[in-house]
Amino acid sequence: MADSVVDEIKARLDIVDLLGEYINLQKAGHNYKALCPFHAEKTPSFVVFPDTQSWHCFGACQTGGDIFSFIMKKENVDFAEALHMLAEKAGVELHAERSSADSNRLDRLRKLNAAAAAHFRKNLQRHPAAEPARQYIARRGLNDEVCEQFQIGYALDSWDDLRQAMVRAGFDQEVLLEAGLNRSSEDGHSQYDRFRGRLMFPISDKQGRIVGFGGRVLGEGQPKYLNTPQTQLFDKGSILYGLAQARRAIRERDSVVIVEGYMDVLAAHQYGYHNVIASMGTALTEAQLHQLKREAENVILALDADSAGQQATLRGLEVARENLEREAVPVPMASGLVRFEERLQTNIFVLFLPEGKDPDEFIRTHPEQWPDVVAKAVPIIDFYMQQMIAEIDLTSANGKVEAVNRVAPIIKELSDDIKRYHYVQRLARLLRMDERYLLDRFASQPGHVGRPIHGRASRVGRPSGKRPKIVLSKEDYILAQLIRYPLMLTGIQQALDLLGQRSLNADDLESSINQALFRRLEQNNATLDGNTPTQHDNLALTEQQIHLINSAGGQPELPYEERLADVVDVILHLRLERQREALTHIHQLLNERDISVEESNQYLSLYRQYSNASYDLQQALKRRTI
Ligand code: UTP
Ligand code: MN
Repeated sequence: MADSVVDEIKARLDIVDLLGEYINLQKAGHNYKALCPFHAEKTPSFVVFPDTQSWHCFGACQTGGDIFSFIMKKENVDFAEALHMLAEKAGVELHAERSSADSNRLDRLRKLNAAAAAHFRKNLQRHPAAEPARQYIARRGLNDEVCEQFQIGYALDSWDDLRQAMVRAGFDQEVLLEAGLNRSSEDGHSQYDRFRGRLMFPISDKQGRIVGFGGRVLGEGQPKYLNTPQTQLFDKGSILYGLAQARRAIRERDSVVIVEGYMDVLAAHQYGYHNVIASMGTALTEAQLHQLKREAENVILALDADSAGQQATLRGLEVARENLEREAVPVPMASGLVRFEERLQTNIFVLFLPEGKDPDEFIRTHPEQWPDVVAKAVPIIDFYMQQMIAEIDLTSANGKVEAVNRVAPIIKELSDDIKRYHYVQRLARLLRMDERYLLDRFASQPGHVGRPIHGRASRVGRPSGKRPKIVLSKEDYILAQLIRYPLMLTGIQQALDLLGQRSLNADDLESSINQALFRRLEQNNATLDGNTPTQHDNLALTEQQIHLINSAGGQPELPYEERLADVVDVILHLRLERQREALTHIHQLLNERDISVEESNQYLSLYRQYSNASYDLQQALKRRTI
């Protein structure tokens, strides 16, 4: 995400081709060798590794890197310039350039959607042929205010009413196709309006820009709703209907109610319940939940009374649990170390409606009871427990095991100690077991023990689970810490010195973006404010910095000493990892068939050199742990 441009360039340029333009590369087994372009030498000690798309000079330079660092060194340019040069070579547009063509196109699509919505709206309000639509709206009890707020409109029962209107307004016919408002005829020679004789529900994104439409038949008919197909703007799986209109209320109440349909949303808003949005009939998707991130702490899912609807919602819940923001909470352990446990920051509730009613019908018949129904929504953990009681024989041994396995992950994610205890207690009673035994089990289940900070902080991620949220590479972790606490650099250098290790420098880092960032950090060490990204002349640098700050954000504050020890630890491990890599590489080189005696001696001596360095590092690490 952070360095997507860099990744894109790397994906398009092959290191062997690129470096081959500068130096004379010779195939050596799997890899390539050359005389090092950065120092004078007679036997080649410069090696290019296609597998890792990296290079390394095993001779006097003792450094290596990727295509960016090669160009920076060879052309004597800074990272920004290297980025420009390679972007051009790779045919990748940098952000500033990239945007214009695409955003123009999207902009035109948005303008067309807005114009179409206005046209549909005008039809509904004034067109004589829209009389049946006006009657339908009256029958459904929708008032003017809510129709205006949601810009409800009508597509005439005509093959080209919209097309004619839009062409008159200056839009190309092409764009109508692109927006999904028109379809091509079978022979491809003409096009016609997709929505005909339908009540139109404009669908907007979070910012309120119209991205698509849902069109309902008046009365019975198939399909009941016709929706805009997938377009550049419209991705049904990621849109929540009504979010733009509901957003303020959602934030104010810190809660959002998710219902299924357009009509449910309209009814809720009409009766003053503005924090209601719709998933548009599908199980909640990850992308939809993503839209909700940071909008509200409480998510309430309205469960359909019929069991198919419940199944869909349940699937939604699974997605919800996996994708909502988690917070790493530091938990002190008896050993004196600290472990992180992940807690869900969102409370998910399930709302049940009386048999056979959907929210639309319910709100229209009992508007005053809606707040009650919402208030009675149960935490999903209760919902799961109820289901468990209904489905599992809790008196059998197997049933008990299954029950614990089913609800344990959810109980563990509850953000509040007391709540967690409450549910463990309930579970214990249900299973007729001693709760102390259960509490113990919960603390020791694999995958949820959390992780000690010391020595392992470089893999700051979820100990288990499919989607790691905050996994940082070792070098990203080091940089993230330095960006957050820039003054720590001095302490780090001193500590490394005490351990007989060289200072931390840019060459310790592999990614050239990180190298550039580190140099910057060194320069303004004393003045850099770690919490706000500083002005950078270079977008990629800023992006990377923001990425690192965000990734590091979830970590708890440690006392200075521990933090320092931790980072030094990660640095030593990083170096050890690099040396092992180098040793593997040298080993590869030694094993080649056509190797000369001279070369072989050179590699052997390198091998010894690296082994010694590894040994020193391991010693340093041992001393650190004592
Ligand atoms: P519903 O069938 O519950 O529709 O589908 P509704 O919104 O309650 O509408 P009324 O009350 O029957 O008029 C729920 C949602 O599923 C999507 C729509 O988003 C709808 O609001 N859906 C349903 C479709 O996209 N296409 C369909 O054919 C049916
Ligand atoms: Mn309905």
